[in-house]
Parts: sequence; structure tokens; C-alpha cells
Amino acid sequence: MGKLIGRNLNTSVFISGRGSNLLSLIRYSKIQKSKININLVISNNKLSKGLKYAKKNKIKFHIINYSKKNHAERVILKYLKKNKIDLICLAGFMKILSSGFIRKFKNPILNIHPSLLPKYKGLNTHRRAIQNKDKFSGATVHLVTSKLDTGKIILQKKVRISKADTEQTLAKKVLKIEHKLYPAAIKKFLKV
Ligand code: GRF
Repeated sequence: MGKLIGRNLNTSVFISGRGSNLLSLIRYSKIQKSKININLVISNNKLSKGLKYAKKNKIKFHIINYSKKNHAERVILKYLKKNKIDLICLAGFMKILSSGFIRKFKNPILNIHPSLLPKYKGLNTHRRAIQNKDKFSGATVHLVTSKLDTGKIILQKKVRISKADTEQTLAKKVLKIEHKLYPAAIKKFLKV
């Protein structure tokens, strides 16, 4: 896809924790020019703080028991179908979607990752960037494929790593740009 279909896209955001990117996407979806509606939040974690944003904004949410991944994915696919979801945005979702899931969903799945991909796939990105004495870090929004943190890059933004940065301060800097990057990447992806 990557093109509009004459109406706003029904979007589902998948989270596992804090949900600050979910909040930025909810805010973006409320701008008149945005072409997405957030209709559904999926979390694998009932303690996920981000669920409060779904509640506050009256967005339907489902907590998915992931003790059996196959079953969990089948349940999620059912909810996606029921809510006619056109687009998934992963935002701090700590489960890897199977290739079967990606194939069956058929529509695009986006993810935000806190590094300048292809550098630092996986976890502990900030620690690794600092350890390697990188001058820059950043965030990437990309299409999801069955390989972790690969898939076409839609948009990236850099931040400078200063000598004084720790894992925590860098994480904060990167998160701040993530909140602008995800909406900007969706705009670019949808060519609006
Ligand atoms: C973000 O850093 C995102 O890039 C990564 O997980 C974190 C989620 O943060 N995939 P939040 O839950 O959106 O606050």
C-alpha cells in the first residue's frame, strides 16, 4: 500500500509498556489533516502504562495473553479483521510477529526503533551506541518483515551523542525525536 484509499486508515497500535509513542500517534490522528484513525490498541501486557491513553481517548483495546504465541496471533488477527484494520503501528511492542502473521494480515505494518538502522537491531541500542563511541544515534521508522528490525526504511532522524551522554540521557533524547518521527513517517508513507 502506501497510498490512500479515499478515507482515513483504520489503525491499530501495538504496545507493551509506557506508550509514549502511542500518545504521540493519538495526538497526530486527531489533527484534521492526518489520514489515520486509531481504532484499536493491542497490548501483550495488562500492566502496560500506555493502556491509560487508550482508556482516556475511548479507544478500544485488547490485552492478549501471549503464553502461546500461535494462539495469541490468531486472536489478534481476529480483532484486526473485526475492526477492519488497514495499518498496524508497532510502538514498543516487545513480541516478534511471525512471518505467518505478517502474511495473513496483508496490510502494512510499521515499527519504530531507537537506533539508526541497520545499526543496532534488537535491544540495548543506546548502550551499544555509547560503547562504540558513535557520534550520532537516532530513530528509524521502517516496514516490518519477518526478520527483526529489517524492512524498508521510511524515515530516520539523527541526534548527536555528546561525551556526557549516558544510556539514560541518550534514551531521553531519542524518545523525544521519536514522537515527531512516527507521525512524519506515516505522512511520508501515505504520501500526504
Ligand atoms: C521506543 O523507544 C521505541 O523506539 C521502542 O520502544 C520504545 C517504546 O517507548 N521500540 P514507548 O512505550 O512508546 O514510550
